[in-house]
Amino acid sequence: MGVGVQWRAAGRSISSLRANRSSGLSHSHKCCVCALSRTRASACVATAGFLLILGVCLLYLPDPLTFDPSASVSEEDHAVILLIWTHPFGRYRKLPDCFELYQVGGCTLTDDARVYAHSDAVIIHHRDVATGTAELPPEPRPGAQKWIWMNYESPTHTTGLWRFEDVFNLTMSYRTDSDIFLPYGYLIPRVRTAEGLRNPNVHPLRGPSRADRPRPRLVAWVVSNWSESHERVAFYHKLSRYVQVDVFGRAGRPLPEDSGKGSVVRLVGRYQFYLALENSQHTDYITEKLWHAVLAGAVPVVLGPSRRNYERFLPPEAFIHVDDFPTVRGLARYLLMLRRNPARLRRHLDWRGSYSVHQPSFWAEHYCTACRAVRKTRGSTDVVQHITRWFHSENSITTLRDYHEGHL
Ligand SMILES: *[C@@H]1O[C@H](CO)[C@@H](O)[C@H](O)[C@H]1NC(C)=O
Ligand SMILES: *[C@@H]1O[C@H](CO)[C@@H](O)[C@H](O)[C@H]1NC(C)=O
Repeated sequence: MGVGVQWRAAGRSISSLRANRSSGLSHSHKCCVCALSRTRASACVATAGFLLILGVCLLYLPDPLTFDPSASVSEEDHAVILLIWTHPFGRYRKLPDCFELYQVGGCTLTDDARVYAHSDAVIIHHRDVATGTAELPPEPRPGAQKWIWMNYESPTHTTGLWRFEDVFNLTMSYRTDSDIFLPYGYLIPRVRTAEGLRNPNVHPLRGPSRADRPRPRLVAWVVSNWSESHERVAFYHKLSRYVQVDVFGRAGRPLPEDSGKGSVVRLVGRYQFYLALENSQHTDYITEKLWHAVLAGAVPVVLGPSRRNYERFLPPEAFIHVDDFPTVRGLARYLLMLRRNPARLRRHLDWRGSYSVHQPSFWAEHYCTACRAVRKTRGSTDVVQHITRWFHSENSITTLRDYHEGHL
């Protein structure tokens, strides 16, 4: 009882919002309409403000590549060339075979700048051109070529955007209203997972079971960039006054060897809660930190965009938002109460059995997703105007109606 939530997943095609494009992509989102049951929400949960979200519509994710029927075979005749202008952050990575990995056909990826004149599109990683590590490609650009702006940093860590007004043709980022939307992670309803099992980036989640032993430790936080100016550090200082928070990473205890995703997930697997605190708070800016917690079966305590924004990506009870409590002390008390009440804790975990997590792999999946989008928008003219204003804006899609009415 309490945070009972019913999910209705409705596959709907919804035009994407765009940053003042002359034309663009549309992508289908699954919309999950959730309604909190009217059962008695216990006092504590009510304080938590969970019921705010009555009737909020969840906008889930892009279609995983593996499920797109249009991404199937025999498309060689429409093949496009996508030029990777720089390897992001100067780190070379072998380019993927989009068909083999994601069943996206008709894509030729190259990082050979000599192919520039023949490329249908060029994918340009913001940081590399903004910092001067690389120049933009030469103008005039060949015929119908499209330049794709790709960026996975938040606006706070995205400098020099003003230089790129009216330069790009498509945007690609974690924002749901990007032309090419690929977030850091997203949920897939389990019913569809059978097909997705082929995809190594899809991880079915295990729901809680009564046989589970309580996790030995309470709260973990992995942080690499410790800055007193970050809101998350202020939050940590407050929280650690009331509960033990084990800090790992450059600013805390060393991470287990290799410190890759797998080892972070194993480490967090010993904890009941994980602090998924973003370095800055912006629309849709929800990074792998959240998904590591989810994969590890810890309940994420999140600091980032609003609760409503998180609910585009997760069921409302799947996370605890720092704004759910008027004070950090109240939040700490709630965590301690959950520790003593396994049945209550399970309410935050029961949703898991019905979902898998898809964590796109950087940057292979990005390139292949972009390439598919280039094929779909071939022949159209797209210009990204007001990129700075757009990237810094709130994204007002919170309900299905907003989506349909195309408000921005
Ligand atoms: C760390 O945080 C500081 C303060 O916000 C920021 O200036 C810096 O770019 C960050 N470093 C990294 C590697 O993200
Ligand atoms: C791409 O953007 C440029 C700069 O705004 C514009 O001149 C060009 O027509 C656009 N091309 C396509 C194919 O959309």
